[in-house]
Amino acid sequence: MCGIIGIASNKSVATNIIQSLKKLEYRGYDSAGIATIVNGDIDEKKCIGRVDNLEKILFKNPSNGPLGIGHVRWATHGIPNQANAHPHSSEEVSVVHNGIIENSNELKKNLEKKGYKFKSQTDTEVITLLLTDFLKKFDLINAINKTLEKLNGSFALGIIFKKYNNVVVGARRGSPLAVGYGPEENYLGSDSYALKSMTNKITYLDDGDLCVLTSGKVEFYNLKNIKINKEILTLSNDKHAAEKGDYKDFMSKEINEQNITAKTCIKEYVDQLKQDINLYNFPIKPEIINKIVLIGCGTAYHSCVTAKYWFEELTNIAIEVDIASEFRYRKIIFDSNNLYIFVSQSGETADTLAALDLCKKNKAKTCSIVNVVESSIARTSEFVLPIHAGPEIGVASTKTFIGQMLVLYILAIKISEVRKEISRSDYTNKINELKKLPDLIQNTLNCQDKMQIIAKDFLQARGAMFLGRGLSFPIALEGALKLKELSYLHAEGYPAGEMKHGPLALIEEGLPVVILAPKDRYFEKTISNMQEVIARGGKVILISNESNNIISENVRFTLKIPATDDLLTPFLMTIPLQLLAYHVASLKNCDIDKPRNLAKSVTVE
Ligand code: M6R
Repeated sequence: MCGIIGIASNKSVATNIIQSLKKLEYRGYDSAGIATIVNGDIDEKKCIGRVDNLEKILFKNPSNGPLGIGHVRWATHGIPNQANAHPHSSEEVSVVHNGIIENSNELKKNLEKKGYKFKSQTDTEVITLLLTDFLKKFDLINAINKTLEKLNGSFALGIIFKKYNNVVVGARRGSPLAVGYGPEENYLGSDSYALKSMTNKITYLDDGDLCVLTSGKVEFYNLKNIKINKEILTLSNDKHAAEKGDYKDFMSKEINEQNITAKTCIKEYVDQLKQDINLYNFPIKPEIINKIVLIGCGTAYHSCVTAKYWFEELTNIAIEVDIASEFRYRKIIFDSNNLYIFVSQSGETADTLAALDLCKKNKAKTCSIVNVVESSIARTSEFVLPIHAGPEIGVASTKTFIGQMLVLYILAIKISEVRKEISRSDYTNKINELKKLPDLIQNTLNCQDKMQIIAKDFLQARGAMFLGRGLSFPIALEGALKLKELSYLHAEGYPAGEMKHGPLALIEEGLPVVILAPKDRYFEKTISNMQEVIARGGKVILISNESNNIISENVRFTLKIPATDDLLTPFLMTIPLQLLAYHVASLKNCDIDKPRNLAKSVTVE
């Protein structure tokens, strides 16, 4: 992960670097740093923790250079301390890096033999010293190429030089990097979001690309060191969506926006007049699909597991679901009649991108479901289905989970209709039910106060469990993930029927157990599992669309969610679980938008 920014200008760049780093903090917040060229020398300042700390340092001791680089770190090699914070500088160069250099130990040994001394435990410092060494014999571009040739692994780099003091250099292999164009200055950034406050004219680097920025121009080179032209894209302006407004944090805004997320997404895909779903130029004819493989990480993986139930129910196609970090190393048998669907909010998740690359290499049919349409995954896949959720800033995925599930559900009913697995009238009914979803989400959001009360029960708990069957099982997984990542409380999500095979041993007096029991074909079974939990002292929070007072006896809290088509219950079940995690974390004074040890965009393996 980590965030990179670079600016080549004629006026002081520190303020804009700091503002951009604040936007990039979602990628990492273990430390922050900046380097500029002041009076012909590299001036480096760095700190542990947030960009605010760096801003305070610069306030006391300004750095007024007309070009510079900045970094926010998510630690990989070396603990989060000041020495390991980026940039890593020598007398001659200063480097910021996102990615991992896999052969850094070997390179380090060679550099040490030549007499170079290391100040940090990072893999990045080998780049600084290699470059310093090559610059003794080669010009700028050749020294960079010689350095990059030595590196195994992934990187996005931003580099400034004492000798070439009017340029910022960027290079990409495996980690995202973009260039932005401004009036009388140019920018380098990990993503367009960091650059958007300065420009909406963007070029994305491809793997192997190198760029050289001055205040007046940008030059690109490919792997073979040949100058190339690259496309400049004009981005839409969704500045407002990236502001917190009156909300305390981005996560509460993003949870509360979910009715709008759903409305926007449905509008994008459902033709209101024809009562049909728009799906033009799909990469494979739905009639000939043998198998669909759904791939993602974390929350995105949970949307894939949910979709498995929908596709199986509706399409009569064999479905596989895989975690991207596992898929990429498996010995897969590819089939040209299979469809591989990659789900990712950021579109930059390294494992998901690598799994997609593997499919591309094997000429498999690929489609991605992403929020960031300019992302690497979107650009690499054959076909993109955007979720149209707008920027999601909170590290925990909330509205984008709803968006991912929506697109997957929409795809499932469309494929079902094309394959004639459901009748035209069933198809129209499903579309009509879908159109009611935004209002139902809004109604469900009314459980805020109740979830805040329920959250108090979790404060003394040693852990928590989330149980569900069928479509509620992946939502139990997601509820547990949200609680652990936000409140640091141990939580398990389980299929309710699996409890007796081991996890039931975890149930003890007072353990909070969230039971997801919509009135579907699993209802009675789930309620029996709930009774087994109650009999062992579990403190049950029952979430259901069925209000049956008898069932609720001995249950600590019951939350009723609106009734809807069985297939749509995951959307409504998700909301109380997001709010629960939010309120537990809030009562524990955890950092809601930036949970410890995590980052929004996971661009390392
Ligand atoms: O950007 P992606 O959707 O590919 O990210 C995948 C996971 O890192 C992500 O879903 C993560 O699990 C969530 N932020 C957790 O809330």
